[in-house]
Amino acid sequence: MSLNPADFRKAMGCFATGVTIITVDLGDGSHHGVHGMTANAFASVSLEPPLVLVCVDRQASTHAHLHAKKRFGVNVLSEDQRAISEYYARADRTDTDAESVAGARFDRTHHGTPVLRGALAYLECRLRSTEEAGDHTIFIAEVEDVLVREGEPLVFHRGQYRKVGAGVDK
Ligand SMILES: Cc1cc2nc3c(=O)[nH]c(=O)nc-3n(C[C@H](O)[C@H](O)[C@H](O)COP(=O)(O)O)c2cc1C
Repeated sequence: MSLNPADFRKAMGCFATGVTIITVDLGDGSHHGVHGMTANAFASVSLEPPLVLVCVDRQASTHAHLHAKKRFGVNVLSEDQRAISEYYARADRTDTDAESVAGARFDRTHHGTPVLRGALAYLECRLRSTEEAGDHTIFIAEVEDVLVREGEPLVFHRGQYRKVGAGVDK
């Protein structure tokens, strides 16, 4: 069986996900040292110890940054942060235009990792191991700290952004 890439994408698109921005501190703690990338290939791996994974394209600049810095943040987007997701998925973006173009503003943890304001959750991650997997690399990291706030998530499904419509199904 030889699988058509378009069919693979279509099948995976049925799996609704949240959307995150992976953040890396590239510099001196100023606004200009924030690098971000939109990612939905993010998952929980282990509870004890708390581990997560993110899969990053080997061509993405984030790939080199994660290897170099070994520390990153995962910011889970809220439903009103679609413009930020679109911005950090653009190949032609500059890290300095994020606030003026998409309204992205950041605080810093004591490690200097950028925390996106208004995100539903923030996870402070320290890289533990990597696994090459086709054209992507799986980065597995230990979660050292989290921030959580109330709100509804941005959802990505069949290539489109959605909001959770009918509330919680009890
Ligand atoms: C909804 C959405 C989810 C994405 N998820 C991922 C992902 O999990 N891993 C990845 O490598 N790229 C993902 N991308 C693509 C990257 O965001 C995009 O290629 C980005 O420009 C890479 O930036 P960089 O080269 O600065 O690292 C996603 C894009 C969108 C719109």
